[in-house]
Amino acid sequence: MTSNGVLDVCASAALIDGGDGVRLEWADARGARHAAFVVRHRGRVHAFVNRCPHRFAELDWLAGRFFDEAGLYLVCSMHGALFEADTGACVAGPCAGDGLEALACEEHDGRVRVACAAAPVPNLSPGSAP
Ligand code: FES
Repeated sequence: MTSNGVLDVCASAALIDGGDGVRLEWADARGARHAAFVVRHRGRVHAFVNRCPHRFAELDWLAGRFFDEAGLYLVCSMHGALFEADTGACVAGPCAGDGLEALACEEHDGRVRVACAAAPVPNLSPGSAP
């Protein structure tokens, strides 16, 4: 659901620290829609466009699986690039020095919300959550 350019993504409880993320569809200022996701890292929620800067692939081969085995770094399933989960900076792999596009997000009253420039369409693909 959206209101005032804010997409209500999921319940806070849907995001476990270092666990699966929740996919969403994010709309930029021109109304173009992009796959995106939210994850929890060290207690805080973070949102990114789901597009690896190396070959522009979505990171999660299995929907919602963004973290590495240790639950510390976001990993691209295509060629294994590792990204800091709080900033999106690529720290290893073919796009080292580049990074994911971070999105403004917040957690309030038990809900996780992401700012959108245009009205998004809810993504009901696997890995999305109510
Ligand atoms: S597409 Fe992500 S590391 Fe190559």
